Amino acid sequence: MEICKSVAEIRAIVANYRRAGERVGLVTTMGALHEGHLTLMRAARRDNDRVIATIFVNPTQFGEVADLAHYPSDDIRDINLLEAEGVDALFLPEVATIYPPGDDTIVETVTLANMLHGKVRPGHFRGVATVVARLFNITLPDAAYFGEKDYQQLQVIRRMTNDLHFPIEIHAVPTVREPDGLAMSSRNVRLTPEDRAEAVVLSRALMQAQELVAAGTTVEALAEALRRTIKASPRATLRGLDIVEAETLSPLSGPVDRKIAILISAEFGGVLLIDQCEVSP
Ligand code: PAF
Repeated sequence: MEICKSVAEIRAIVANYRRAGERVGLVTTMGALHEGHLTLMRAARRDNDRVIATIFVNPTQFGEVADLAHYPSDDIRDINLLEAEGVDALFLPEVATIYPPGDDTIVETVTLANMLHGKVRPGHFRGVATVVARLFNITLPDAAYFGEKDYQQLQVIRRMTNDLHFPIEIHAVPTVREPDGLAMSSRNVRLTPEDRAEAVVLSRALMQAQELVAAGTTVEALAEALRRTIKASPRATLRGLDIVEAETLSPLSGPVDRKIAILISAEFGGVLLIDQCEVSP
């Protein structure tokens, strides 16, 4: 695997692939790789001749400095995992490469970024859209792969890609879960064993939602049932529960009669976890 830190190097690598007529798939990450990321790499491998990955812990998407400081990082372990997956090239830039001195440009999907989870974490999706736009421009892939777990992030990136006319296909990859149902996340390692055991309540609530929607329900009754399930867990502090129209993320009310997305965020011992799913009646 070729590893590079500069924009010029990764552009030269991608240009060589293109000259050879090869299709390039991109997976952007913040490192601390887990099975969820490797699933994205495999999806990219299936559709493309070359797979490139990025590892960049993006400071502009963290609200609190403490959250950024706690973000796990182990480049050697991550590099070994990417090598084992057969990734062709890794872009591992410094902060000053992505955000050059004097940097003065942001990218924001104004509505999508400031609703739902964006209200709990102001500026987060602006940071995501800004860094993904820069990584797209730097790496110039044919396709990019994102997890459905970060559902609002996925919709933000789709919107941004469309609005800025990036000629890049966006592929959504289903959430990878632990055997008990907990969505895989780099944050899971920060949970105490007790919180880890309780965190499964999030995926349990989503399964309950699927059953309730299949049986026929209203948005209000569904929200109430899920709130009760999560609040019954003594270690969970519910931060957000939203039932919205799947693509626009607009609020809904009344009978569930179309595809919805359910987005849940909850804290366990100070660690914010999110989970979400799409459900069709
Ligand atoms: O999902 C992530 O890991 C990050 O938000 C992303 C898309 C790599 C942007 O920093």
